[in-house]
Amino acid sequence: MTKPATTVLGLGAMGSAIATRLRETGHDTTVWNRTAAKTEPHAAAGAKAAATVTEAVNGSDTVLVVLLDHASVREHLEPAAAELAGKTVVNLVTTTPNQARETAAWASEHRITYLDGAIMAVPEMIGQPDARLLYAGDEHAYDTARPVLETLGAAEYTGEDPGLASLKDMALLSAMDLMFLGYLQAIAMMRTVGTSAAETAAETERWLTAMLPHGKGLAAIIDGGTYDTGGQSVDFDRFGIASLITASREQGIRADLLEPHRRLLDDLAATGHGDSDWPRIIDQLTIR
Ligand SMILES: NC(=O)c1ccc[n+]([C@@H]2O[C@H](COP(=O)([O-])OP(=O)(O)OC[C@H]3O[C@@H](n4cnc5c(N)ncnc54)[C@H](OP(=O)(O)O)[C@@H]3O)[C@@H](O)[C@H]2O)c1
Repeated sequence: MTKPATTVLGLGAMGSAIATRLRETGHDTTVWNRTAAKTEPHAAAGAKAAATVTEAVNGSDTVLVVLLDHASVREHLEPAAAELAGKTVVNLVTTTPNQARETAAWASEHRITYLDGAIMAVPEMIGQPDARLLYAGDEHAYDTARPVLETLGAAEYTGEDPGLASLKDMALLSAMDLMFLGYLQAIAMMRTVGTSAAETAAETERWLTAMLPHGKGLAAIIDGGTYDTGGQSVDFDRFGIASLITASREQGIRADLLEPHRRLLDDLAATGHGDSDWPRIIDQLTIR
C-alpha cells in the first residue's frame, strides 16, 4: 500500500530523527529547515528538500512540525496558512497547553486540521516501541494520520482538547524534573564525605525503584479525598523534612530544594491539618 506523503518542518535533532524514520519506512518525505544546509543529508538519502515552508507543504496532506518553540511555529506557519488549508498539521513542538490551544484556534480559523503532539522520547528512540508520543485535538485527523504517527513510536490519543497532550507532557516532565533534583540533593550531601556522584546515583536509583510503587498509594489517598487514613501525617512529615534540612545544612549543603516541601506542610499544620495524611499538601498547590 502506498504510504502517505509527509512533510517535516524543522531538522534539528528531533526533526531529523523523525524525517529519517519516515523516509526509511517508505514515506515520500519532504523536508524544510531554516538553515538549509541541514536538508542536504536528507536529500542525499532520498527526501525532497524544499526551499520554503510553502513549497514544503505542497504535495503532502500531513505536515509534521518539529521546530524549536511556539514562537517559531507561529512565525513559519502563519505565512503558509493558505497552502495549509485542508491539510493536517501535527505540531510536535514542546509548548504549554494554552499555546497548543492558541495554535489550534488559529488553525481552525484557516480551515487547517490540527493535532497537537508531545514526544515522550529522545531522538534515538524514534521508531522504537519505547518511544511514546501523545496526541490531542481532532480525533478524526488522529485516526487518519495514525499509520504515519505509529511509524514514530507508540501513539496515544489523549482527547479533543488540543491542550491535553501538552498538559500530560508538562505534568510528567515536572515529575521528572523534581525527581532529578532529588538526585542532585543526595549527590551533593554524599560528596561532602567523598562519595562519588556515580555511587550515590546508583544508590538513589535503587532506593527510588523500591519506593516508586508507593506513588499509587498516595494517589489512592488523594482520590479518597478524606486524608484520614491514618497513614503518615502532616506533623510526622514535618518532623522528617526538618531532619533532612538540618542534616543537609550540617554538611554545608543548602536545603533550598527541600524548603518548599516544609513550607507546604507548615501551612497545613497552621490551618489545623497536622493530623491529616500528608498528601493533603496537594490542596496547597492550587493557586487561589
Ligand atoms: N531532542 C529531544 O530529546 C526532544 C524530546 C522531546 C521533545 N523535543 C521537542 O522537539 C522540538 C525540536 O527539538 P530538537 O531537539 O530538534 O531541537 P534542536 O536540535 O535545537 O533543533 C531546533 C530546530 O528548530 C529550528 N528553529 C529554531 N528556532 C527557529 C526559528 N526561529 N525559526 C525556524 N526554525 C527555528 C532549528 O533550525 P536551525 O537548524 O535553522 O537552527 C532546528 O531545526 C522542541 O520543541 C523540543 O522541545 C525534543
